[in-house]
Amino acid sequence: MLTTRRQVLSALGAAAAAHLGSVRLAAQTAAPAGPFVLPPLAYAFDALEPYIDAQTMQLHHDRHHAAYVDNLNKAVANFPDLAKRPVEDLLRDLNSVPETIRTAVRNHGGGHANHTLYWQIMSKDGAKQPVGELAKAIDQRFGSFSSFQDQITRAATGVFGSGWAWLSLDQNKQLAIVPTPNQDTPLSTGQTPLLGIDVWEHAYYLKYQNRRADYLAAFHKVINWDPISERYSQLTK
Ligand SMILES: [Fe+2]
Repeated sequence: MLTTRRQVLSALGAAAAAHLGSVRLAAQTAAPAGPFVLPPLAYAFDALEPYIDAQTMQLHHDRHHAAYVDNLNKAVANFPDLAKRPVEDLLRDLNSVPETIRTAVRNHGGGHANHTLYWQIMSKDGAKQPVGELAKAIDQRFGSFSSFQDQITRAATGVFGSGWAWLSLDQNKQLAIVPTPNQDTPLSTGQTPLLGIDVWEHAYYLKYQNRRADYLAAFHKVINWDPISERYSQLTK
């Protein structure tokens, strides 16, 4: 029961604050004005259960990735020439981005490009290992698929704080395993990412808490090697 004037006012204040909070939330999640757009997930949030839980997927896509897109759009709002370029082009040539927004493009553009690839290379029902030319190249470069898995897991485990571990193609079209901090992408060092493992805590904390190793073991179970193998073939033709 709200019996005193103070309690009533306090309750009203809380309600007003909650309302303001929801308005703020709506503003944060409103569709971005563009030019960059959050790509929809090609599968349901719970499609990767039990390895990656639905709540993590929803927050990761609808909040974290959405925020990178929104912030990238804000960064380029006064730069129409930049806004016309694909985000990958901006990241490949960060020196062409004006210094005043270079860090924002690096962080939020990186976040946008990195997550776009991340969603594409996951599926519970996809190919469980590389096929075709990529399978051969992985055996040649890393000894075996199993050895590759160990090496990229080690790279992902070794990322201090937030970042990514990548399988990428270097300038000579050779496979390489590279870690990057924050939302940095191999694109910015002249490489082309094929597979990215997000080791920011937002990718796993709800289900795995601080057990990054458990998340990495689960992540290997949901990598879909079909699009990765296909992309490798296209890029090395
Ligand atoms: Fe992420």
